[in-house]
Amino acid sequence: MEAPWGWLVISMLAISLASSVTEDVCRAPDGTHGSAGIPGRPGRPGLKGERGEPGAPAIQTGIRGLKGDQGDPGPPGNPGRMGYPGPSGPMGPAGLPGLKGTKGSPGNIKDQPRPAFSAVRPNSVSRDNVVVFGKVITNQENVYQNNTGRFRCSVPGYYYFTFQVVSNWDICLSIRSSRRDQIQPLGFCDFNSKGFFQVVSGGTVLHLQQGDQVWIEKDPSKGRIYQGSEADSIFSGFLIFPSA
Ligand SMILES: *[C@@H]1O[C@H](CO)[C@@H](O)[C@H](O)[C@H]1NC(C)=O
Repeated sequence: MEAPWGWLVISMLAISLASSVTEDVCRAPDGTHGSAGIPGRPGRPGLKGERGEPGAPAIQTGIRGLKGDQGDPGPPGNPGRMGYPGPSGPMGPAGLPGLKGTKGSPGNIKDQPRPAFSAVRPNSVSRDNVVVFGKVITNQENVYQNNTGRFRCSVPGYYYFTFQVVSNWDICLSIRSSRRDQIQPLGFCDFNSKGFFQVVSGGTVLHLQQGDQVWIEKDPSKGRIYQGSEADSIFSGFLIFPSA
């Protein structure tokens, strides 16, 4: 750059000198342009250009490598939503028996029927040999029939029966029950040929159902019962405890 400008200044000076000299002289024609100078030195590097467009993807080459090792297990995930309830299982075994309950209040014995009877003085012996104790002393629940000599059970349960019969002769008596499955005739005998008073007695516990009958029966071939006023014979019975 300096050289062309320098060259131009020198040229103009030469021209002005020549003009002043030849002002009034015959003027020669202007010279032609000189030949181009040699190229200047290379300029400074320009500004950095803009970033280019991304290149086309490279074509995958090479052989696929072996599968890598399994990684460590990840952290546990969040719990899932609750599922629907399943069907009910089979019934379990029976539990242990519970504690003993508290003692109940005592029952009122007055609410229970309490059959009991006593009758004395055999008025007669019936045709079927039943000893009839006609004079009633007690007859709770009307269980004793003083016209037939028979006790009739109204409350099922265990009963006690007893008799004491006075005689001054040989005598055999038995306690009889309509429950033939339960007892054979219970015979009680005493033998006395001297005319003294004596007592033959017997007793038993019987389990009876409603409607069963109990009575005292005399062996028709054995003696007689004293029926005077000097001594009494007695037939008694009562419920010990009810039981079906
Ligand atoms: C049964 O008892 C009644 C009343 O106590 C009495 O009148 C009647 O004569 C008695 N029957 C027998 C057979 O003794």
